[in-house]
Amino acid sequence: MIKSFLALAALASVALTAPVTNTSSYEFSGPSPYKSDGNLTKPLVKPYTPAGGINTNGTIPIYHPLSDFDYESLNLVVYQEYIELDLFEYGLKTFSAADFKAAGLNQEDRDLIQFMADQEVGHAKMVSNMLGEGAPKRCEYQYPFTNVSEFVDFCQKLTRFGESGVYGFLEHLDSRDAAQMLLQSITTEARQQLIFRQFEGLFPMPVWFEADITQSMAWTLLAPYIKSCPEGQPRIIFQNFPSLNVTNNPSGIDLKYPPAITHDRALSHPGMEVEFSWGKVGEHVGPNNSYVTNTTAGAPMYAAWISQLNTTYTELYDIKNNSAKTKQPNTQTYEGDPAVNGTMFILITDTDLFVTPANISQLNPHVVAGPALFQAG
Ligand SMILES: *[C@@H]1O[C@H](CO)[C@@H](O)[C@H](O)[C@H]1NC(C)=O
Ligand SMILES: *[C@@H]1O[C@H](CO)[C@@H](O)[C@H](O)[C@H]1NC(C)=O
Ligand SMILES: *[C@@H]1O[C@H](CO)[C@@H](O)[C@H](O)[C@H]1NC(C)=O
Ligand SMILES: *[C@@H]1O[C@H](CO)[C@@H](O)[C@H](O)[C@H]1NC(C)=O
Ligand SMILES: *[C@@H]1O[C@H](CO)[C@@H](O)[C@H](O)[C@H]1NC(C)=O
Ligand SMILES: *[C@@H]1O[C@H](CO)[C@@H](O)[C@H](O)[C@H]1NC(C)=O
Ligand SMILES: *[C@@H]1O[C@H](CO)[C@@H](O)[C@H](O)[C@H]1NC(C)=O
Ligand SMILES: *[C@@H]1O[C@H](CO)[C@@H](O)[C@H](O)[C@H]1NC(C)=O
Ligand SMILES: *[C@@H]1O[C@H](CO)[C@@H](O)[C@H](O)[C@H]1NC(C)=O
Ligand SMILES: *[C@@H]1O[C@H](CO)[C@@H](O)[C@H](O)[C@H]1NC(C)=O
Ligand SMILES: *[C@@H]1O[C@H](CO)[C@@H](O)[C@H](O)[C@H]1NC(C)=O
Repeated sequence: MIKSFLALAALASVALTAPVTNTSSYEFSGPSPYKSDGNLTKPLVKPYTPAGGINTNGTIPIYHPLSDFDYESLNLVVYQEYIELDLFEYGLKTFSAADFKAAGLNQEDRDLIQFMADQEVGHAKMVSNMLGEGAPKRCEYQYPFTNVSEFVDFCQKLTRFGESGVYGFLEHLDSRDAAQMLLQSITTEARQQLIFRQFEGLFPMPVWFEADITQSMAWTLLAPYIKSCPEGQPRIIFQNFPSLNVTNNPSGIDLKYPPAITHDRALSHPGMEVEFSWGKVGEHVGPNNSYVTNTTAGAPMYAAWISQLNTTYTELYDIKNNSAKTKQPNTQTYEGDPAVNGTMFILITDTDLFVTPANISQLNPHVVAGPALFQAG
């Protein structure tokens, strides 16, 4: 009954959606030099060991940055790990067991959040050890929540961009060994994000693939919550794009949906009108207000929906000063997997550049503002 209603709603909404331009498809790939017909192309290196792979021959792993790209990316990770540690501790300290109870969460749930804080100690330590004397320190933070529900909502959002921010550069690190250990911390963080969604009464994992974003996109989302950092702190080299707000963003906080393993919920739908407002170039943001927003893009033209494997563009309309509207597209990653769902990323861009997960950084010069986190489900 509900299913057929949703199917009808989806059909009816097709006509309502804005024109979709380039939608990336990860199967849209450059030519591969390897012929994958199931047969070996080279003799085995030794028994049970196919030829190829990187550092598979007994090389000693180097768990250190091997380039500026590695250092700057890992530096950003430590900034992220420290805010997660601080956030989880702050939530437990600020809200009492009774406050948590009123939001449907018990002492064991609080203990789980404490365990997550402990995990963050380990993550910050592991990445800091890779950076050695160049590792950043813990900062002071500012948070946009006033009660437990809003705290939990903020946690599922912060861990979303923490996770996706790493996926954007992980495969590009020069140090494959550093990437290995970082991956092992991010898979833990992915579980934290899912648990906070359950604490919020959302569907825990409404997508088939988790999206990746660039370091500059992650830093744009993170910087506003860092109030100040100690003297001598290594700075972040990545860009702060002008901030982007979805002014009619759906909220996951709803008394009808208490914490649960899962609720089948949709917070937005194809054809939904989405309204944006964004900040200016030259605004001071981040630690000690010492970072300045910038963009090298031209005039705003498109909303880029970074979701799962696809980046889909919809046209903006009612573009006025630093505000515009668009409509949620009706695209699927694979058949049966609507691309837009969960806590996902939208940017304002000057072009509908075709990008796929491994070359999404090509989009940076075209970002007018954002990303914003869009609460689609
Ligand atoms: C999104 O990417 C998938 C995977 O390549 C592709 O099959 C699908 O057609 C894309 N979606 C759209 C709407 O183009
Ligand atoms: C990104 O990669 C895809 C192949 O996956 C390619 O078709 C596209 O042109 C690339 N985009 C840019 C901006 O280089
Ligand atoms: C793969 O190996 C099998 C068995 O030797 C052979 O019959 C087949 O022709 C090979 N396929 C190709 C594409 O070379
Ligand atoms: C092992 O493989 C790496 C690349 O994967 C290569 O740079 C290195 O020279 C190889 N070492 C030996 C001893 O063959
Ligand atoms: C927290 O505030 C939101 C409004 O932002 C409200 O909807 C929610 O019910 C509140 N939660 C608790 C546990 O008080
Ligand atoms: C940032 O501000 C704090 C608090 O005023 C101060 O202690 C700290 O030294 C400043 N950090 C930098 C890098 O200037
Ligand atoms: C998002 O996923 C949830 C859970 O599977 C589902 O109920 C909802 O319909 C999905 N939203 C869209 C727009 O497909
Ligand atoms: C976006 O929302 C935040 C929090 O509500 C607010 O502080 C900021 O000024 C808004 N920015 C824009 C560009 O609307
Ligand atoms: C923005 O970046 C461009 C390119 O690096 C630079 O020329 C410009 O001065 C920057 N603007 C601001 C406000 O920092
Ligand atoms: C918005 O743009 C209009 C027309 O360009 C202009 O008259 C108005 O002053 C602008 N408003 C603001 C708040 O910048
Ligand atoms: C899609 O992207 C390509 C390359 O990024 C661009 O040339 C083209 O104009 C874009 N728009 C459409 C509708 O294909």
